[in-house]
Amino acid sequence: MELTWKRKLEWLVMVGFLYIINANVSEGGITSSFLRSYNYSRDMPLDSDVFRVPPGYNAPQQVHLTQGDHLGKGVIVSWITQDEPGSSTVVYWAQHSQLKLQAHGFFLTYNYYNYTSGYIHHCTIENLKFDTKYFYEVGIGLTTRRFWFKTPPPVGPDVPYTFGVIGDLGQTYDSNITLTHYEKNPAKGETVLFVGDLSYADAYTFHDNRRWDTWGRFAERVAAYQPWIWTAGNHEIDFAPEIGETRPFKPYTARYPVSFQASNSTSPLWYSIKRASAYIIVVSTYSAVGKYTPQYKWLENEFAKVNRKETPWLIVLMHSPIYSSYVTHYMEGETMRVILEKWFVEYKVDVVFAGHVHAYERSERISNIAYDIVNGLCKPINDQSAPVYITIGDGGNIEDLATNMTEPQPKYSAFREASFGHGILDIKNRSHAYFSWHRNQDGYAVEADSIWLHNRYYGTRSDIKQLA
Ligand SMILES: *[C@@H]1O[C@H](CO)[C@@H](O)[C@H](O)[C@H]1NC(C)=O
Ligand SMILES: *[C@@H]1O[C@H](CO)[C@@H](O)[C@H](O)[C@H]1NC(C)=O
Ligand SMILES: *[C@@H]1O[C@H](CO)[C@@H](O)[C@H](O)[C@H]1NC(C)=O
Ligand SMILES: *[C@@H]1O[C@H](CO)[C@@H](O)[C@H](O)[C@H]1NC(C)=O
Ligand SMILES: *[C@@H]1O[C@H](CO)[C@@H](O)[C@H](O)[C@H]1NC(C)=O
Ligand SMILES: *[C@@H]1O[C@H](CO)[C@@H](O)[C@H](O)[C@H]1NC(C)=O
Ligand SMILES: [Fe+2]
Repeated sequence: MELTWKRKLEWLVMVGFLYIINANVSEGGITSSFLRSYNYSRDMPLDSDVFRVPPGYNAPQQVHLTQGDHLGKGVIVSWITQDEPGSSTVVYWAQHSQLKLQAHGFFLTYNYYNYTSGYIHHCTIENLKFDTKYFYEVGIGLTTRRFWFKTPPPVGPDVPYTFGVIGDLGQTYDSNITLTHYEKNPAKGETVLFVGDLSYADAYTFHDNRRWDTWGRFAERVAAYQPWIWTAGNHEIDFAPEIGETRPFKPYTARYPVSFQASNSTSPLWYSIKRASAYIIVVSTYSAVGKYTPQYKWLENEFAKVNRKETPWLIVLMHSPIYSSYVTHYMEGETMRVILEKWFVEYKVDVVFAGHVHAYERSERISNIAYDIVNGLCKPINDQSAPVYITIGDGGNIEDLATNMTEPQPKYSAFREASFGHGILDIKNRSHAYFSWHRNQDGYAVEADSIWLHNRYYGTRSDIKQLA
C-alpha cells in the first residue's frame, strides 16, 4: 500500500528528529551524543563576584531557606554573621500587611581542623498563611538585609506546584551557569529539590571550610527566596580522621538544618515533608539503612503513612542513584536498592531523583525485586508500579562530567546524556505532572528531555514504553 502523505511526513519528521539529536539508538533508549563545546571547569576564584561579602559591618550573609514544618506553613531561615553574633531574630510580614512580626532563633559555631565558622543563625518561622508572599529581614542597625519568599498553597490533591531539581552543584563557572539557567527558566520553579553534594569544600586541602562559606554566598541569590529541600551527599560527610575530624556531616548539619522532627525522624539526614500535592521522602545514602537500623524503621513507617488521596505525588530524593548506566559510581546504590526498591514498588512511588553521577539519565518504569538468592530472577523487568528514576547530578561541580557510559545502553535506560543542567517537575493536578531537563548550553526555555508523568495512584495509563 502506498504511504499516505501523512505517513511520509511523519517519517521525514522522525528521521529529521534522529538526525538533530544525533542519537545512537541501542537496545535501550537514547544515548544523546549532543556535542558541547566544553572546557573542564574550575571553581570560581575566591574573589569572584558571586562570592562577594555583602557590604556593612557584620552584614548577614549566606541567607538560605528550607521548609520549617511538615505542611509548608513554616520556614527555617539561616544566615551567617562573621564579626560578632549580632541578632538571631527574623522580622517578617505578609505582603499588603503593616503588621511586622518577629521570630527568634539561635546561633552556633563550629571548628573544623584550623577553621572556625562565623556565627551561624537558624530561625524557624511557624504558622504562616498558605499561599502568601512574605518579606523578611535579618541583621541589625545599618546592616539589615531584606528578602522575600512565598508559602505554598495548602496541601491537597489537585494543587499545582513547580519544583526545580538540582544536584551536585559545586561552585565552578558551570555551577554558576546552572543556577542562572534555573533562575531564568520560564517554567519558574518555586522550591528546589536538591539531591546532595553542595559545596565540594572537601576537594580542598583540610576540606578548606571557607569554600562552604563561598558556596553559601553563591547560592543565596536563589536560596534566600525559595526553600531548598536538602539531601546529604558524599561531599557532605567531611569525615577526615587524618586531621582529627571524625564527626560525619559536621559542617553540613551546622549550616543546613531541616525540620526532621516534624516527620518524627530522629536524624536530619532522613525526613519527609508535604508540599502542595507532593509528599517528599528524603533518604540518606550515607547512613545505615539495613533492617533494624533507625533509618530503616523510620522509612518502613513512613511509606505506609502516605495518604495518596491527600498528596497524590510520592517523590523520593536520595544522593546515589539505584539505576544508573554510567561507569562512574556504577552499582554504588546497590545496597540501598536491595532494601528500598520493594517499598518503591509496593507504595507506587512516582519518581525517584538522585544525583552523584555527574550527568543526566531517565529510566523506564522497571523493577528488579523478584530475586530471592536461589531463584535466579535477577533482572529489571517492566513494572508499571515502579517509579521513574531520574539521575540529575549534573549541577556542574569541580569533578567534571561523567562521560563514560556502560555499553550497550541497558533496556531500562530511556535517555542519557552527559551534560550539565537542571530539571523542572511541574505538577499539574492529581493525575499529570510534566518533567523537563534543561541543559546549560541551550536557551533558558529549551527542554533537552521531557516526559509526562501519570500519577501511579490516580493514573491508570502507562506513561512510558514497555520493555521488549
Ligand atoms: C575553551 O578554552 C579555549 C582556550 O582557552 C577558548 O578559546 C574557548 O573559547 C573555550 N571554550 C569554551 C566553551 O569556553
Ligand atoms: C590552616 O592550616 C593550613 C596549613 O597549615 C594553612 O595554610 C592555613 O592558613 C591555616 N588556616 C588558618 C585559618 O589558620
Ligand atoms: C555568575 O553568573 C552571574 C549571572 O549570570 C553573572 O552576573 C556573574 O558575573 C557570573 N560570575 C562568574 C564568576 O562567572
Ligand atoms: C509524629 O508522632 C506523633 C506521636 O505519635 C503523631 O501524633 C504525629 O502525627 C506524627 N507526625 C507525623 C508527621 O507523622
Ligand atoms: C570507560 O569505562 C570502561 C569500563 O570501566 C573502561 O574500560 C574504559 O577505560 C573507560 N574509558 C575511559 C575513557 O575512561
Ligand atoms: C490534569 O492535567 C492534564 C495536563 O494538563 C490535563 O490534560 C487533564 O485534563 C487534567 N485533569 C483534570 C481532571 O483536570
Ligand atoms: Fe556525590
